[in-house]
Amino acid sequence: MSKTTSIFSLFLLSILALTQLSVHSAPEHAPSLEITNETLVWKVMMKLGKVNVNVLDKKKESSKIKGEQLVTQGSTTSFKGNRTAMTSNKLTCIACHTIQKEHPNANNITPQDRLEYGDSMNIPFLPGAPFYGLVNRVAFFTNDYQEIFAHKNRSALQVGHRDIRKAIQACNTLYAKGRTLAPWEIESILAYLWTLELKIGDLNIPAAVVHTVESAINTNKNNARAVNLMRRYYKEVYAASLVLPLPIEERNLISPVLNDFGSGKKIYKLSCLHCHGDKRYANFKLDESQKTFKLLKKHFDAPTRYSIYDAIRYSPGSKGNKTNPPHYTAERMSNQQLQDLRFYIAQKAKLGSQADSYYENF
Ligand code: HEC
Ligand code: HEC
Repeated sequence: MSKTTSIFSLFLLSILALTQLSVHSAPEHAPSLEITNETLVWKVMMKLGKVNVNVLDKKKESSKIKGEQLVTQGSTTSFKGNRTAMTSNKLTCIACHTIQKEHPNANNITPQDRLEYGDSMNIPFLPGAPFYGLVNRVAFFTNDYQEIFAHKNRSALQVGHRDIRKAIQACNTLYAKGRTLAPWEIESILAYLWTLELKIGDLNIPAAVVHTVESAINTNKNNARAVNLMRRYYKEVYAASLVLPLPIEERNLISPVLNDFGSGKKIYKLSCLHCHGDKRYANFKLDESQKTFKLLKKHFDAPTRYSIYDAIRYSPGSKGNKTNPPHYTAERMSNQQLQDLRFYIAQKAKLGSQADSYYENF
């Protein structure tokens, strides 16, 4: 290199250093983020300084494809190339958890809105909290699962409260009655769950709020306030209320005015038949024959294992739920919906398939 070129490059370098310096000292050039519908919610939250608690462990082997197979098929091939045992005998994750959006607005978890949307998209109506947006949550098995949940293995759920990996393990052993998952399997399931994280477009967030959040990021001011603003538009925690079955004397209050046949029909199809149809995920078979509806109707108000109220509301292993069907919390299925289901079953028991045409235009 000649002397002049080296002096010239020295000169260039110092210019570069100077501009670098000015970039750092001028606040208007602070790290910026332009938020679009495709921007990941966690990306925004992290820019605002929130700690991401569910990050993948880079030191562990994981594969989102293997994770997807574990979730949807219950088995995959290990990194050594062997087929794994099924995660559970019958109850794979998707027996109880959806992997689609349950509603276009991530903040809307109202059971009836989810049922209507699910029906239009052919998405089942299930007891488990949805996998879509799961990595955006910061606590698991909340409220009553920590307080009143009665089960001999309840401590497993409790340790999963603040730990997504332990929550996955607990759910597979306790709810799915499955085997203990290996660390690489849990990490792979987590990697798959990261493909289902929330985007800004999933939030019904007004443009003015987006603007406030952007300027907090760009000026590095009022970050805590912006974090709290963002949190109003999605659920960081899914509430869970374990409620007792409706008292027997309140159950018979059904009528075409109070209840919606169509809604009961949707629940039967998107919930009950999802698991009991063709015994897909359960041993007890349900179908659309009048005989089946008569059986369910007969047990409505008896404290037996065939009562829909007991099957839906009691915790696994507790009274009226000796066979461990997964129950629904009040947030996952409302009493109004359960009464709509009763109304539907009662009409189908009485009128058979004619009930459908009778209530078609109601
Ligand atoms: C038999 C039904 C069932 C099966 C099978 C099942 N789960 Fe669950 N899972 C539930 C229920 C019920 C909840 C509690 C939902 C609630 O908060 O009301 C839950 C909660 C969870 C949670 C905590 C979610 C939250 O927001 O609190 C995680 C994580 C989870 N399950 C992972 C899994 C994984 C992974 C599998 C498959 C390996 C699986 N589950 C299989 C029923 C099931
Ligand atoms: C996520 C899967 C799932 C869904 C959804 C589901 N069940 Fe079940 N249910 C089970 C399992 C598993 C059992 C345990 C017994 C078995 O394997 O058949 C069970 C048990 C029952 C039992 C008691 C049967 C017995 O042998 O003790 C009844 C009654 C019942 N379910 C009705 C319903 C109705 C009505 C719905 C719809 C509102 C429904 N279930 C939705 C999985 C499910």
